[in-house]
Amino acid sequence: MPKINENFTKIPASYLFSEVARRVNEYKTANPTHNIIRMDIGDIKLPLPDACVDAMIRAANEQRSAVTFRGYGPEQGYEFLRDAIRNNDFRSRGIDIASDEIFISDGAKSDTGNIGEIFSIDNYVAVTDPSYPVYVDTNAMAGRAGEVNTNGMWSNLVYLQCNADNGFTPYLPEIKVDLIYLCYPNNPTGATLTKSQLACWVDYARKHGAIILFDAAYEAFITEDDVPHSIFEIEGAAEVAIEFRSFSKTAGFTGTRCGYTVVPKQVTSRNEKGENISLNSLWNRRQTTKFNGTAYIIQRAAEAVYSPEGKIQVKNLLDYYKQNSNIIRTELIKAGYTVFGGINAPYIWAKTPNGENSWDYFDFLLNKKNIVITPGSGFGHCGQGYVRFAAFGKKEDVYEAMNRLCT
Ligand code: MLT
Repeated sequence: MPKINENFTKIPASYLFSEVARRVNEYKTANPTHNIIRMDIGDIKLPLPDACVDAMIRAANEQRSAVTFRGYGPEQGYEFLRDAIRNNDFRSRGIDIASDEIFISDGAKSDTGNIGEIFSIDNYVAVTDPSYPVYVDTNAMAGRAGEVNTNGMWSNLVYLQCNADNGFTPYLPEIKVDLIYLCYPNNPTGATLTKSQLACWVDYARKHGAIILFDAAYEAFITEDDVPHSIFEIEGAAEVAIEFRSFSKTAGFTGTRCGYTVVPKQVTSRNEKGENISLNSLWNRRQTTKFNGTAYIIQRAAEAVYSPEGKIQVKNLLDYYKQNSNIIRTELIKAGYTVFGGINAPYIWAKTPNGENSWDYFDFLLNKKNIVITPGSGFGHCGQGYVRFAAFGKKEDVYEAMNRLCT
């Protein structure tokens, strides 16, 4: 009988959002008529932009004819989408990224989870605490995180504490680390790094030979000028960083699935002989072996995000969710909550009113107010005593939820 990967026995039995969904379903079964408002997982509620749906229909129709039908596509993504990304997301900001440094995928969750495969399990990994659980769980699955203690913290991970005292922006690690996961604007706290703060991380990585795994899934929600949209806005970052992007929250692709990862050709790591190896080549090798590319139809939909009409429609979506963030933030403050985030991110991070444990407050909101949020402790030890509100709902539901909280 084959042996299992023992690392799976050490991680929590279910993924954070699966546990939230389990509790919600249990409650729904017991209370089928209750109107539950979901503000937990960041799943968008508005439909896809028309430009994207029209592009999908055109691409689907191409599949009817032998002349325009597409079979296997390039594993790295079609040139048309890589070029659109390069021009619109990078060149427009003065960043020179080549098309073959962009790898299209089915989303940032997969890529942030899979990237660890190209690194040795001996590396020291730093994660912010709290952080998106994929970073910790996938390192634990790989056996890189060591052993877990009763607080759910891993012996081989370096936790960069984020709390109200440091504005949820971590200090540089006190010990030398090899890989650093940074997500800005941050999930779950909504915190940001300014250009000069991010430059300190790039300097650290250059000095210590570390690689920054920069999750920029929420860059489209930035409203303030001094907040970088890409780590590659920082000089020297192309030597030490990999960046993950997503169409999920930007353009409503949570169900459609499309994202991309930028692996500059300059970014290298050492092999056992001390030679510098290109991470772009390793990631290309990994993707060509394990991934057959995002569906053509979906890539055409993503390309339409950058069309003139797509840009307007995406902006309207983003404006809608940004207004939601503002309503939630404002109303929570009025109701006496201590809140963070929500200005450059679709997440509002709130202290539980009377120091309640995050899951207890989750249960209270679900049972007494029929509102679902994400418990902060699910994102890490430092998230204990906090909860996260996601701003992706319908406006009427957001108002209704805030009304319920205030009464
Ligand atoms: C979240 O709610 O943190 C995200 O929607 C989860 C994800 O993107 O996988």
